[in-house]
Amino acid sequence: MAKILVTGGAGFIGSNFCNLMVKKGHEVTALDNLSLGVKENLVPEVKLIVGDVRKREDLEKVGYVDYIVHLAASSSAPMFDSDLRGAFENNILGHIDVLNYARDIKAKKVMFASTSSIYGNNPTPLTEDQLVIPPNFYSVTKFAQEGTSRIYSTKYDLEIIAFRFMSVYGPNEGHKKVYANVLSQFIWEMAKGKPAVLYGDGTQERDFTNVRDVCQGIEKAMNSEKKYGFNIFNIGTATAISLNELVGIINKVMGKNIPPQLIPNPLKGIYIKTQLAGIDKISSELGYAPSVGLEEGIKEIVDNLDPARIPLMQE
Ligand SMILES: NC(=O)c1ccc[n+]([C@@H]2O[C@H](COP(=O)([O-])OP(=O)(O)OC[C@H]3O[C@@H](n4cnc5c(N)ncnc54)[C@H](O)[C@@H]3O)[C@@H](O)[C@H]2O)c1
Repeated sequence: MAKILVTGGAGFIGSNFCNLMVKKGHEVTALDNLSLGVKENLVPEVKLIVGDVRKREDLEKVGYVDYIVHLAASSSAPMFDSDLRGAFENNILGHIDVLNYARDIKAKKVMFASTSSIYGNNPTPLTEDQLVIPPNFYSVTKFAQEGTSRIYSTKYDLEIIAFRFMSVYGPNEGHKKVYANVLSQFIWEMAKGKPAVLYGDGTQERDFTNVRDVCQGIEKAMNSEKKYGFNIFNIGTATAISLNELVGIINKVMGKNIPPQLIPNPLKGIYIKTQLAGIDKISSELGYAPSVGLEEGIKEIVDNLDPARIPLMQE
């Protein structure tokens, strides 16, 4: 049994990881300021501390833990448009605050969420050894987290792992509303009989990764005895499909035939054309293997949709 702190534990990925870890017998504390996440995402066995990673007194309420899974962040590129300074402070200074805490309590390992959007339109498959030029403010903050962690691990002898998640989807995403994965948003809209709205011609491709596989990757890193100092791992499926194909699969699973609505891309700046993870590194180092097929993952969300609780995107 390990003691685990999950920052951002009431959020999408955090709650899935917390709920899985308590099921496996670990003692899990979620620290979340509930700026986006909701306590309903967590099973009662998870101890929730409502607090902020940037406040030392809130971190200290957690006490000693073996592992820290740091997921608290301004978690989506559009969030940076409304409050650029606040989002930089949250992601960069908040990250330093978590690392300082980990150092002071002598935690065995810190694992945190970077992002695959850091790769921009690099050639695929995306691999961890590629040169990256972060294409937006959000990925700039994740790049800063990675760089800070690399120095930190050497200076303070702390084991730190960064994950570059691809497009993660799965249960407990409702609180994210417009910030949720397009896959979930498409399902919510199509469940109401509305078309999925696709930017451009819908040929852009994404490596849709079920949150269960993200949890698998984090758990494998946590349990690994290997010492890296600092290391970076992609988590994805090594397959990509276009948004047009995605809408086709959702229609098939839902027994519907709603064509997507194509609109000109309203986003300025770099738009990712193809996201496809290289996963050789995490497979060979940690024994990770994607386990949830896309159709299976979509079916699970569709089967569990409560028509009375489909997120309203305009809220
Ligand atoms: N979902 C994806 O596809 C994806 C892909 C790549 C990276 N990530 C990263 O993974 C992490 C988790 O993302 P998610 O999809 O679960 O998003 P999420 O927004 O659901 O989770 C983040 C949680 O952190 C909390 N939070 C934010 N700032 C905080 C603070 N200062 N102190 C305490 N809690 C705070 C929020 O309330 C929220 O519950 C984020 O770091 C995100 O950038 C997500």
